[in-house]
Amino acid sequence: LQVVHHNQQVTTTLGTVGILGGTGAQGRGLAFRLAKAGYDVILGSRDQERARQAAEGLGDRVTGSTLRGAVEGAAIVIVAVPWDAHAQTLTDLREELEGRIVVDCVNPLAFIDRAPVALKVDEGSACQQAAVLLPGSRVVGAFHHVAAPLLLDESVTELNTDVMVVGDDVPACEEVVQMIDSIPGLRGVRCGTLADAGQVEALTVNLIRINRRLKVHAGIRITGL
Ligand SMILES: NC(=O)c1ccc[n+]([C@@H]2O[C@H](COP(=O)([O-])OP(=O)(O)OC[C@H]3O[C@@H](n4cnc5c(N)ncnc54)[C@H](OP(=O)(O)O)[C@@H]3O)[C@@H](O)[C@H]2O)c1
Repeated sequence: LQVVHHNQQVTTTLGTVGILGGTGAQGRGLAFRLAKAGYDVILGSRDQERARQAAEGLGDRVTGSTLRGAVEGAAIVIVAVPWDAHAQTLTDLREELEGRIVVDCVNPLAFIDRAPVALKVDEGSACQQAAVLLPGSRVVGAFHHVAAPLLLDESVTELNTDVMVVGDDVPACEEVVQMIDSIPGLRGVRCGTLADAGQVEALTVNLIRINRRLKVHAGIRITGL
């Protein structure tokens, strides 16, 4: 925790989060919420100017950079690129991501005749693929079921949903839960290891089905806690 003084006013920054694919809906949505919660956020893009523009309107704490820039300035890096770009993006940044907590929210899905389908992943899941490609990073899965339109909707002050968190590195998972819990209405729930990530990712298919049928942005709630 770091305290910074700006023009006599005291603001608190909880740390810096980088987002790969930060110009997309999910990346911008998470940036908006994390910045409001007190994190500095760097949107990472293949095009720095696109990232700079994407950061506009998300608050003073959000800036835009290259993919490398988003990693180098951050202790926690969220992966929010499409599944098709997952392996290549992580492979290209393997060294830079070493030692960092990498939060993967990528859902390996395809749409066949407009129907969402969970893809089979050789490593078992996107999170496990990240762990294989990034042996020096602390991979955690989270935010798979949080809908970007809700994150970006300023009129939604309480997100009112749980976030399933999976990972093998318990302290890293706890840090991610703390980050999630700092956002009003989100509750992080640790629910397994990276080997348990596949069904978390695939559950998104069911949420998309609900969203289409009822014209909503469905999330999940774990009861009994
Ligand atoms: N949207 C949701 O509600 C939601 C919810 C939960 C999880 N997710 C997951 O979050 C991820 C991002 O979702 P999204 O809807 O924000 O996706 P998106 O808008 O399609 O893509 C996000 C960003 O990824 C970068 N990108 C696109 N194609 C790429 C490629 N071939 N190589 C490298 N980078 C590429 C682009 O940034 P630049 O062109 O600026 O580099 C793009 O703005 C997905 O994996 C999705 O499964 C999404």
